[in-house]
Amino acid sequence: MPDGKNILVGITGGIAAYKICELIRMYKSSGANVKVVCTPNALNFVSILTLQTLSQNKVAFEQFEIGDFKPEHISYADEADVFVIAPATASTISKIANGIADNLLTSIAAAFNKPFVIAPAMNTNMWNNPFVQENLQKLAAQGYTIVPPESGFLACGTTGEGRLAALDKIFDTTVDILCGTKKFLSGKKIIVTAGGTVEDIDPVRFISNYSSGKTGCALADTAFRRGAETVLITTKNVQKPYKVVKVKSALEMQTALSEEFDDADYIFMSAAVADFRIKEFNPQKTKKTDSDTLTLELVKNPDILQYLCNKKTSSRPVIVGFCAETENLIENAKNKILKKGCDFIVANDVSRKDIGFSTDENEVYIINRNLDVKKVEKQSKLKIAEEIIKEVYEKSGNLCTHK
Ligand SMILES: Cc1cc2nc3c(=O)[nH]c(=O)nc-3n(C[C@H](O)[C@H](O)[C@H](O)COP(=O)(O)O)c2cc1C
Repeated sequence: MPDGKNILVGITGGIAAYKICELIRMYKSSGANVKVVCTPNALNFVSILTLQTLSQNKVAFEQFEIGDFKPEHISYADEADVFVIAPATASTISKIANGIADNLLTSIAAAFNKPFVIAPAMNTNMWNNPFVQENLQKLAAQGYTIVPPESGFLACGTTGEGRLAALDKIFDTTVDILCGTKKFLSGKKIIVTAGGTVEDIDPVRFISNYSSGKTGCALADTAFRRGAETVLITTKNVQKPYKVVKVKSALEMQTALSEEFDDADYIFMSAAVADFRIKEFNPQKTKKTDSDTLTLELVKNPDILQYLCNKKTSSRPVIVGFCAETENLIENAKNKILKKGCDFIVANDVSRKDIGFSTDENEVYIINRNLDVKKVEKQSKLKIAEEIIKEVYEKSGNLCTHK
């Protein structure tokens, strides 16, 4: 924990600013000293009194305040061990990436030569704006740690990518930086599959499933944060600071996996792959007929997990299968690991409404080839991802060097 470390929290003018009150409380509870700097626009969203009371420090926002002989942008930059900007607006991200220093926060950023954590939050269209993306890439290339936003309901009334990352994630990222390097996966290549495959019936209809891809994204984010060369093969539209291969059907997913397989160290197969696809895709929209029934003929998709396990050598890559069950969870999972020959199976119960598909939380069991079962208690998918990666890394013969 970052006892005695100095965290500078920068708040900008986004609707998620209110969430940072809780983040400040989390940092304080961990024993860190917290100072806050706001852009003038941020003060439309949070009050100085709240931030001052939570951080137990004066809140800085005025660039030209007459105070100490040393300008605040210099003394704040000198004191802090890490500068966490959350939420980071499109505007502030773009200013920092271009060296613009036109308010106290951006001036401190320009003078700060220690680690940054940037947690963007904005409307989906702003997030997808090519200039914003280009500026983020610039920051990432300079070593700024970006905590990418999540998908979900946004304050502007739409659903999509752009929601501030979970506070846990921002907090953990900060702790990782302050408490020494924990990039224990550096030098490893990790492939993660995510989302439900989509099997087209005709140009307007398809067969799919309820998988949200959240667990896969959380696994890939964690692997990346831990230093791995990360490849996310997903059916969802996501933008990440690592390689994303967008696929649709099971066959496309298999091809993408084959292309990445050879130099992979770990493969996490968390996508929900359709067992069957339509035998004959209808290139025209299927017309309604007088018949009361319609029969679709399906053919078996390849069993991708089995295919990869057959390709595997004795030591590489470590392959982790996932199984979503509605009954006999552990028994089915044990049968699956024996049948497929993968190294681990992560099992979760999708009959429960409070965990699994489309929720932000999960509870899973990690089973190894000796059929030892480790339960990971209900918690955020991000924390679950961390536990899965830790367990797989340690139990596949690595001495874990992280805390
Ligand atoms: C109600 C409201 C909510 C806003 N939310 C965001 C947001 O979440 N993300 C963002 O990038 N900009 C958002 N903006 C636009 C920024 O406030 C605007 O770009 C501003 O110039 C940012 O200034 P700053 O980065 O210096 O704080 C919002 C504006 C309003 C009026």
